[in-house]
Amino acid sequence: MERKHGAYTMIPFTEEEHAKYKKVYSDERQFVRIGPSGYVLPTGWLAHSEDVRTMPLRPDDVFVASYPRSGTTWTQELVWLIANDMNFEKAKSIPLTDRYPFLEEFIFLPSLRWLIGNDLEKLKNIEETMRPAPEVLASTPSPRFIKSHLPMSLLPEGTLDTARVVYVARDPRDVAVSCYHFYKSLKKYAMRATFKEFHELFINDLETWAPFFEHVKEAWHQRNHPNMLFLFYEELSKDLGSAARRVADFLGKQYTDEQYARLLDHLKFDNFQKNTAVNLSEYKKLGIMEEYGNFIRKGKAGGWRDNYDEEMIRRTEQWMADNLRDMDLRFQCNWEFNVEK
Ligand code: A3P
Repeated sequence: MERKHGAYTMIPFTEEEHAKYKKVYSDERQFVRIGPSGYVLPTGWLAHSEDVRTMPLRPDDVFVASYPRSGTTWTQELVWLIANDMNFEKAKSIPLTDRYPFLEEFIFLPSLRWLIGNDLEKLKNIEETMRPAPEVLASTPSPRFIKSHLPMSLLPEGTLDTARVVYVARDPRDVAVSCYHFYKSLKKYAMRATFKEFHELFINDLETWAPFFEHVKEAWHQRNHPNMLFLFYEELSKDLGSAARRVADFLGKQYTDEQYARLLDHLKFDNFQKNTAVNLSEYKKLGIMEEYGNFIRKGKAGGWRDNYDEEMIRRTEQWMADNLRDMDLRFQCNWEFNVEK
């Protein structure tokens, strides 16, 4: 039943929805759907949703927003370097997570508490590093860089009127595969599903931050706003140099060809995967991620084909076609349109 939570409407997951979720994960999270599009968030969101909504913004704030596993980290580093005079030394010495508070990271606290159990020392450590971002950001010097997987409608009120947003979108078939591998490697979710079982949850919009298409469409509709830059993962993969120049135009920066060459080398998959300032290798040390996990994993556009059987391909194409009807939004893999064959 619909209820009000602060400024948002909220509907708890039904028993049936939670049962579907439980087939994939064995952690203790409970979920709610927020706002008219019913965005799925764990109940932990409710603790600070109003702090996020009413967070004071500054004109030089830069958000990097996306549905998870769409190339957020890659885009964050690209944006940060372009905004910060290509200061590679600083980028290598300060973890990306410190340079970009994660706006809704606090939603993970209950799952981490569950994972950590009675280890009070670890718990204290996690609670300190996961202070709610609105609180952290209040004392962060300008310019601030903020990461979020929230859709545009759940970002702080008036974000585009004041701050700038770089939104990155990716073909949902690659997103699904990438989410699966990443979530499976996170101990806090205790995921035991096959990719096919996970995929069922994904295309039924039962994953955190779903519905996928509403998320992307909200940003797409605002793509021509002067404070918004809309990028595709596929475009970064195909021609990172051009994408970097678009980011520089957006941020009002100019660089030499040599500086761009160094930037592309820094952002190249093989170098990026080894870069300890961005690859979240500390998750393994903290015991949050399984040893086999890799935050920067394969880095391919169109790699989903190796993971889908014929039936999944058909159903997913139909899901995409239904959701993209009457829209000019298309995900390009290897520069072929995959949706309308
Ligand atoms: P895969 O799991 O398909 O490899 P996010 O940062 O939003 O979580 O997105 C993670 C995805 O972006 C992962 O996709 C990751 O490998 C990919 N990625 C990260 N850095 C990349 C880079 N430098 N080049 C290509 N892909 C990259």
